[in-house]
Amino acid sequence: MFNAGSISDVPNFGKKVVSTDSGEILLVNIKGVIHAVENECPHQGCPMTAAVVKDGTISCPRHGYRFSLVDGSCSEHPDSVLTLFPVVLEGETILVDVSR
Ligand code: FES
Repeated sequence: MFNAGSISDVPNFGKKVVSTDSGEILLVNIKGVIHAVENECPHQGCPMTAAVVKDGTISCPRHGYRFSLVDGSCSEHPDSVLTLFPVVLEGETILVDVSR
């Protein structure tokens, strides 16, 4: 598990980028639930840092593809799937499973 820092580093409804050996991960905090997604859109590689998070989806800032925060799927473009990483909170510490 990758130690992605403290939950207090990710404001409510905010985001934070962390770097791992296998690339950048974007952390998203929705009411205390932390999501971890690859920080690179599967469409054309745009960073997701400026993405809009709404109604359980995260929208790429470049062309607006909306990806589910449950499974990474994109209903409008099923061939594009955003990689999500399992997250475990250990107290205040965010642990991300980057093994896949
Ligand atoms: S680069 Fe993300 S939707 Fe096109």
